[in-house]
Amino acid sequence: MKTTVIAVDGFASTGKSTLSKRLAKALDFTYIDTGYMYRAVSYFALTTHLIQDNIIQEEALEAALSETSFSWSTASGSKQMLFNGKAYGDELRTLEVSSWVSRIAQLGFVREHLVEQQRLLSQLGSVVMDGRDIGTVVFTNADYKFFLIADPKVRAQRRLDELQAKGEEVLFEEILKNVVDRDHQDSTRTISPLRRAKDAIEIDTTSFSVDEVFEQMMSVVKA
Ligand code: DC
Repeated sequence: MKTTVIAVDGFASTGKSTLSKRLAKALDFTYIDTGYMYRAVSYFALTTHLIQDNIIQEEALEAALSETSFSWSTASGSKQMLFNGKAYGDELRTLEVSSWVSRIAQLGFVREHLVEQQRLLSQLGSVVMDGRDIGTVVFTNADYKFFLIADPKVRAQRRLDELQAKGEEVLFEEILKNVVDRDHQDSTRTISPLRRAKDAIEIDTTSFSVDEVFEQMMSVVKA
């Protein structure tokens, strides 16, 4: 059976996950949020004391990670990704997790483990996968590749709205700093830095609505 892979990479809060989810729904593909996977590992490290005194206990994390796995559940009616058998939600999107995730994502053993899991999770059929290295590392032969960018202030405002809607008290400046820091860390790390694949279509979402960007992406896939 021929399966299709759509890779959606780009900077934080450019609309990747919202758009990827919509694409997957419209095309009846599975949506895989790889940021969730890096966030789940960061949350795991924070809650199992594998981050102590601001230092990641790398050896212990590597050993612990080999005992963990991601899987799918359909218990809620739709496909949900589980980490060690549990579905995670807002606890992965706090500013604390966001401030550790880029450091966790720089570790070679974390990336190797997660890329392997991402390829395994995709074996069931066609997928829309969003992240930072999907078109450049995970699926270099993806059928379609998109790369989303947007003005950092617009992205910080989007993230602020999202967190405030969930009742988190945060300052715009704090979020902007996190967005800019993560951009820097994600694009300058040694292993699999965030960059546009040569054959990816770049879309600047700064002044487009989600509907408009969705239509642009759909027209590429339909063509
Ligand atoms: O998409 P997101 O903001 O939830 O991703 C969280 C972090 O995870 C991001 O700052 C970098 C890292 N990440 C990565 O390095 N590679 C991926 N494929 C996905 C996310």
